Amino acid sequence: MQHIRFLPQSISSQASFLRTSVPSRIRYTPQILKPSFAKIPAPQISAQRTMATVQEYRLKLDNVDLKNGEKVEAEVEGVGGGKVILLKINDQLKALGPKCTHYGAPLIKGVITGDGRVTCPWHGACFNTDSGDIENAPALDHLAAFPVSIKNGAAYITGSEAAIKAGKRKPNISCKPVTTAGAEHVVIVGGGSGAMGAIEGLREKGFKGQITVLTKESYLPIDRTKLSKALIPDEQKLQWRDAQHFRDAGVDFHLTTEVSSINFQAHKIYTKTGGEFSYSKVVLCTGGTPKRLPMKGFKDLEGIFVLRGVDDVQRINAALGNNGKKVVVIGSSFIGMEVSNCLAQKGNDVTIVGMEGAPLERIMGPKVGKIFQNQLEKSGVKFRMNSGVESAEPSLADSGRVGAVLLKGGEKLEADLVILGVGVAPATEYLKQSGIELEGDSSVKVDGYFRVQGVEDAYAVGDIATYPYNGPGSDGNTKVRIEHWNVAQNAGRQAALHIATNSEPTHFIPVFWSALGSQLRYCGATPKGYDDIVLHGNTDEAKFIAYYTKGQDVVAVATMQKDPYMTQCAELMRRKMMPTKDEIVAGVDVLNVEVPAGVKI
Ligand SMILES: Cc1cc2nc3c(=O)[nH]c(=O)nc-3n(C[C@H](O)[C@H](O)[C@H](O)COP(=O)(O)OP(=O)(O)OC[C@H]3O[C@@H](n4cnc5c(N)ncnc54)[C@H](O)[C@@H]3O)c2cc1C
Ligand code: FES
Repeated sequence: MQHIRFLPQSISSQASFLRTSVPSRIRYTPQILKPSFAKIPAPQISAQRTMATVQEYRLKLDNVDLKNGEKVEAEVEGVGGGKVILLKINDQLKALGPKCTHYGAPLIKGVITGDGRVTCPWHGACFNTDSGDIENAPALDHLAAFPVSIKNGAAYITGSEAAIKAGKRKPNISCKPVTTAGAEHVVIVGGGSGAMGAIEGLREKGFKGQITVLTKESYLPIDRTKLSKALIPDEQKLQWRDAQHFRDAGVDFHLTTEVSSINFQAHKIYTKTGGEFSYSKVVLCTGGTPKRLPMKGFKDLEGIFVLRGVDDVQRINAALGNNGKKVVVIGSSFIGMEVSNCLAQKGNDVTIVGMEGAPLERIMGPKVGKIFQNQLEKSGVKFRMNSGVESAEPSLADSGRVGAVLLKGGEKLEADLVILGVGVAPATEYLKQSGIELEGDSSVKVDGYFRVQGVEDAYAVGDIATYPYNGPGSDGNTKVRIEHWNVAQNAGRQAALHIATNSEPTHFIPVFWSALGSQLRYCGATPKGYDDIVLHGNTDEAKFIAYYTKGQDVVAVATMQKDPYMTQCAELMRRKMMPTKDEIVAGVDVLNVEVPAGVKI
């Protein structure tokens, strides 16, 4: 029956409750689940069961006459605080949970596409409008989805109070893996963003074999992106999923387990402590290793930190004590800028040393880089741009600790601690003797399915993977390595899709975000650079859209305080429907460009 497709997980599990308690002729039939059926006298049922009872609820709406592509947020009558977004696609009305399951962005401000996706305005998570299922990172949970009916000019949804209040549901990834001889066994090396995408993707796509994760870190996958924005030292507060979730999914985690080498021919993985694991497929997602500086003092003095994991945050926080410290951050990278902003707001005296004229100038251009600089200066961060570093100098009180950073021009910046934000290198040391040929930057070359070139049954995703780029400006042979949270997780999902179903990849446009006083949102990529920037908006107020162009192609878009422009551009890029540079210059507003159903890449 057609309408069963619309039953969200939570409702279908409640439908199984209905199977035992109502005559079989009304199973799964929302039309029959009228309020009269659901109105079991209150005293006879527990509060919990009331919450779980599936019934019809009226939406508080004056006008339910939506056009295709329109959406409206509506309160649900009788459910305190309950809301949905009602939207229309291909003449069908749908009702979904109103907030993105990542950080809770209001989806009413998101972008709806003709092929049935709603894309979050903040960081690009995409949900299927039929089922509410997650389709693209960074969110992990699905949206609740409810069947809609119209009666006498009013809209009704069918669902339980609990499902409406939650607005979201966990993917059903529970699994008792098949362990018989010869059964599939996927080993994932790394426990970060790529690993999360691969794990959830495998189980969501029905993979029934064993999944083993080997990770150097001592904790389950965390939201790494929060580390530099808030210096949270507690991994429990950063974990995406708890141990029970992975147990239910039949995922065997080996924490504090560093892989030292892989024999791809024998399908064997070896760990630093002498462990050995066999696999039928391996997914490599070991991320990046922060670079350090080779200059005098930087290798031996204490008080100089990098920032990649919770341990780094704990070390930095210990050095900060009660704050009020002099901190020198070397590198005006995203991580350097974010951590500086966070430290300044905690009451530290922060100076960023950068080699470019403006922060992030190479990627974002000088004018946009200056916007970021202004934003951070408002938080009290000081800048030394166009500056090189000569050495780290010991403190007068303790010759083993850093006390200052000497710049090339002779200026000495006092420092209680130093944080390095000078980039990362692909963490592929363990592959050096494995027989696969690494790229010049030590990354792993993969094909469109994220399969490692030159060996069988191996995939690589995330910061270590150089993959064929499908976004605007690509000529089909363009390769790219991108250090974005979403890219790693989406690529992990792609590898999982191929392992579980042998399906063709579904391409995604890279999306990135950063907290630089205001929220920066970015989509696309510039593997071949850009030759111009079309800047719209008010740079003084950090309210802008920057279109990065190469010839007539808009290859990347950055925005601040201009939602949902980035999301709209990502959806247009995905279909190769992005307006040209001339059209943007002539005043075409991308929000007025229809995002049609066809996906051409
Ligand atoms: C502080 C910080 C803030 C960031 N903020 C943002 C942001 O706001 N937006 C954004 O888009 N991106 C951001 N990024 C980038 C983003 O986090 C990365 O691109 C993403 O995590 C890459 O995912 P990954 O799976 O490739 O690697 P990771 O998430 O780094 O995971 C790698 C995993 O592999 C493990 N590992 C490494 N070597 C071995 C080995 N030999 N054996 C076993 N395990 C190993 C690591 O311990 C780790 O568990 C940020 C990164 C950092 C460090
Ligand atoms: S809040 Fe929706 S993607 Fe982050």
